[in-house]
Amino acid sequence: MNILILGSGGREHALSWKIAQSPLLSNLFIAPGNAGTSQVGKNIDLSVSDFEGIADFCVSNSIEIMVVGPEVPLVEGIHDFFEANQKTKHIHVIGPKKLGAQLEGSKKFSKEFMQKHDIPTAKYQAFTPDTLQEGLTFLETLSPPFVLKADGLAAGKGVVIPDNLKDAKLELTEMLANSKFGAASQEVVIEEFLDGIELSVFVLTDGTNYKVLPTAKDYKRIGEGDKGLNTGGMGAVSPVPFADEEFLKKVEERIVKPSIDGLKKDEIDFVGFLFIGLMKVGDDPFVIEYNVRMGDPETEVVIPRIESDLVEVFQAVGNKTLDKIEFKISEKSVCTVMAVSGGYPERYEKSKEITGLDAITESIPFHAGTKSSDGKVLTSGGRVIAMSSFGDTKKEALEKSYASLLKINFDKMYYRTDIGFDLE
Ligand code: AMP
Ligand code: GLY
Repeated sequence: MNILILGSGGREHALSWKIAQSPLLSNLFIAPGNAGTSQVGKNIDLSVSDFEGIADFCVSNSIEIMVVGPEVPLVEGIHDFFEANQKTKHIHVIGPKKLGAQLEGSKKFSKEFMQKHDIPTAKYQAFTPDTLQEGLTFLETLSPPFVLKADGLAAGKGVVIPDNLKDAKLELTEMLANSKFGAASQEVVIEEFLDGIELSVFVLTDGTNYKVLPTAKDYKRIGEGDKGLNTGGMGAVSPVPFADEEFLKKVEERIVKPSIDGLKKDEIDFVGFLFIGLMKVGDDPFVIEYNVRMGDPETEVVIPRIESDLVEVFQAVGNKTLDKIEFKISEKSVCTVMAVSGGYPERYEKSKEITGLDAITESIPFHAGTKSSDGKVLTSGGRVIAMSSFGDTKKEALEKSYASLLKINFDKMYYRTDIGFDLE
């Protein structure tokens, strides 16, 4: 079987690393991929938004499964595009169609969905430039901190949490009247602040049946102790110690089942990953957000823990027979620590040589932002290497990742030394 993965980050390297282990695989392609994915498959120089080019490639190379890594092509409708074309409609696309992708593409859509299906989430109201005044008045009825979310995709930057009313009003005005996030903030969701601890649960569904994947917690801030600017994610651990069996039962009953059933009731044909960002408030789970793809760097800790053949799993998703397969998850812990370019998430330099990767034996260095050049591996992004390791405990896994990070180097390499610090 021939498989194409779309994307170029650590998530896509982890997916391709796992898929490459399957005896069912003939050829693996990654578009556009990175230096890491080229070690396990063939990189194809196509942009994830070039639907025509991707479709032509799939037809010429007899692709049977296409796994869509990032959200943008899903929100832009790549699955619908494949389905509408006679030559590509037989290809199993792992990722929802445009309508289902609105769960990530529009905060308002996802809040309405949760409200309609009684899925626990923060109370909210949505405002547009025309209702800015009402929004400002609404803020006065809330107590700080205030949670303001641009409705559309804003590359992970669309959520702002001011801790006083003055800043909240300014922010709302910036978003709505001055289009701070462009089209993404033409509508803004204001919601109640949830005070708790965050984790993520991932579900893979064929539209009817689903499998719950391992839990993960990521560390989004650039600095130690969760301080400083938000990033795409500086590290992750799986499993999440505070997500015990009892809590996960609540998540499944109150959130996973009603989400999958809700999609069916609303006739939203959803095939692929549903990433549920949760806040544990007291002992109860609340949804912070849905994403319609795997997380990054969460994939780098979740995928290694899956023992089942991922190609078989994806085949079952495509054939809507996910209930027929056994899904095995490792008891081990996996942790990842992200090595980033100095300056990230603000300005940083690229094309720095990464040395020492060949010396890594105790970890899996998933490439997040790398490229090959003349036999060398160079940095090509803010997040560069996600150093993932297995351990009998979280502590052991983290120790391995940190020991491995000492073996690699590039100019101005930085990583957090406290991933997992807040967990027992
Ligand atoms: P999102 O892009 O929706 O994941 O939001 C980004 C981050 O903002 C989340 O990871 C949370 O840390 C925080 N956040 C979002 N919504 C809330 C909320 N209602 N209460 C507290 N924190 C929130
Ligand atoms: N690590 C968060 C995300 O992938 O959205």
